[in-house]
Amino acid sequence: MIKVTTIPGDGIGKEVMEAGIAVLDALDLNFDFIKSEAGDGYFQENGNTIPEETLKNAKNSQATLFGAITSTPGERSPIITLRKELDAFANLRPIKSFEGINSLYNDLDFLVVRENTEGLYSQVESYGDKEETIAISERIITKKASERIARFAFDKAISDERNKVTCVHKANVLKKTDGLFKRTFYDVAKSYPKIKSEDLYIDAVAMYLIKEPRSFDIIVTTNLFGDILSDEAAGLVGGLGLAPSGNIGDNNGLFEPVHGSAPDIAGKNISNPIAMILSSAMMLDFLDENYYANQITTAVENVLKARKIATPDLGGTAKTMDLANAVIEEINKQ
Ligand code: NAI
Ligand code: MG
Repeated sequence: MIKVTTIPGDGIGKEVMEAGIAVLDALDLNFDFIKSEAGDGYFQENGNTIPEETLKNAKNSQATLFGAITSTPGERSPIITLRKELDAFANLRPIKSFEGINSLYNDLDFLVVRENTEGLYSQVESYGDKEETIAISERIITKKASERIARFAFDKAISDERNKVTCVHKANVLKKTDGLFKRTFYDVAKSYPKIKSEDLYIDAVAMYLIKEPRSFDIIVTTNLFGDILSDEAAGLVGGLGLAPSGNIGDNNGLFEPVHGSAPDIAGKNISNPIAMILSSAMMLDFLDENYYANQITTAVENVLKARKIATPDLGGTAKTMDLANAVIEEINKQ
């Protein structure tokens, strides 16, 4: 029995979670899903965006699936709380083209690995004067976090049979912080002699991603740079409805579609569940159930390639569960 906490959240989070669970239930595996609350809907009734019980459930599970939430103004995002509580230090975003999907590039396959716990998102901010005309943000980089994220990227290169890891930074200007990040990266690289290592400046990578995205295999970078580059890279392939992600720690993992709660289409059951379904495949990979992860990924690829059933964002008229059921049918054929 695989114990998984599920947090549907708000808006289309609920719709895509239902679809994701249906696909997992179609596999020859046994799950114990622990449905838990978080988000703005929960806040409106209870005054906080994530209850202790949800955090406890997530910590006591083998992994957590998260749908999407609507942000509550002035409140800390529950996803940030979860990442911190689970010490999910690596944010992993596969950038993959799918046959049958119109996108800028149809042959991309690389990973963006983002440090998830520090950097410019350390949330240490202050004012430099009483009048609040100077605002200061501290960018914290530690050797410990730089080392574990670099190690994560190289280990991923080995497990996924990839050849190269690119460290992205701005060490020419941010000499101390990114200097430490880059130095640590090359220290770690010494233990992985079979994997190529290189480093590039963030501004150059913003351009290379558009001009030569095929040159990347695994990108590893600090928190803010990773946030921006992973969205940019997602724009090169299928778009939000197809983009999965994982937040991975030593003992736990949290898997979620990249998109939000999409209030503009919520409640109509027309959201695309593929990002959620692919996030659950990433979860299975994390749990070393690679066979079943591949079953899901192959089924999704076949459904997209066939172009018969598509939600409105993919140019069709199908409902959320129609697309999920098409994936389940493909799984049953395997
Ligand atoms: P969004 O990702 O919810 O939606 C952006 C656009 O993409 C909308 O037009 C939406 O209809 C479309 N879209 C997104 N996912 C889709 C799907 N699966 N199928 C079809 N179309 C899809 O981003 P937006 O509108 O900026 O934010 C809405 C709310 O979600 C906000 O409160 C925001 O703070 C929150 N949010 C939450 C995230 C999370 O839970 N991790 C991530 C991003 C935003
Ligand atoms: Mg982002």
